Amino acid sequence: MTSYATGLEPRCYALVPAAGVGARSGAAVPKQYVPLAGRAMLAHTLEALAAVPGLAGTLVVLSPEDEQFEMAVPGFDAGWVARSGGATRADSVAAGLRELQARGAQPHDWVLVHDAARCLLRPEWVTRLIEACAEDEVGGLLALPVADTLKQGSHGRVMATVDRAGKWAAQTPQMFRLGLLQPALAAGTEGVTDEASAVEALGHQPLLVEAPLENFKVTWPADFALAERLLTSR
Ligand code: C5P
Repeated sequence: MTSYATGLEPRCYALVPAAGVGARSGAAVPKQYVPLAGRAMLAHTLEALAAVPGLAGTLVVLSPEDEQFEMAVPGFDAGWVARSGGATRADSVAAGLRELQARGAQPHDWVLVHDAARCLLRPEWVTRLIEACAEDEVGGLLALPVADTLKQGSHGRVMATVDRAGKWAAQTPQMFRLGLLQPALAAGTEGVTDEASAVEALGHQPLLVEAPLENFKVTWPADFALAERLLTSR
């Protein structure tokens, strides 16, 4: 394990990959721009991150073709934007890490990668993650123990029941040191759908920090109405 004892207090950066099109959402615009409770989904996500104490900066990674961000998220003046998103989420995150580095982030600094589509994030969950990981060698992620019985399906039929014991549903933020996450993603991103799996592939065991179901990722058409109801009821 690399030692990051630099004598300097590590900083925490948030990195929000928002360069996807949300193909599963059925929405006419990229899902991060779908209006929910009067504002774009991404505006809610960034508002939650802005309320997290102690973050050194927040970077949003957009598609190079993005023309909607400034209109959809007015007032993001204190944050950073990079139009360098890639073909996959992992490519967008890797581009964001390069941008953070160019802006002064060091290998021992922490990066909290958070999906734009988890717009119900609450600042206190992020603080819980930061406190849990601050002294950890590897880092970790918010996650939820699986409650449902799991089925392996094929063509709409059950092929097997999967033992749910010990299974967690991974959420975000996922918090790793820049100096660990960058080589982890550089080692190959095929099939990598979150940062933790890239870090695991290097032989590490990220910390699981429990978070509520409310931190779900808006993905399917029906998720938008649920997210809107929850945002409105807050
Ligand atoms: O598609 P999915 O819901 O898994 O995307 C998770 C997050 O990754 C979203 O915030 C999405 O905008 C982002 N993403 C990205 N670049 C891609 C694909 C997804 O930044 N090429």
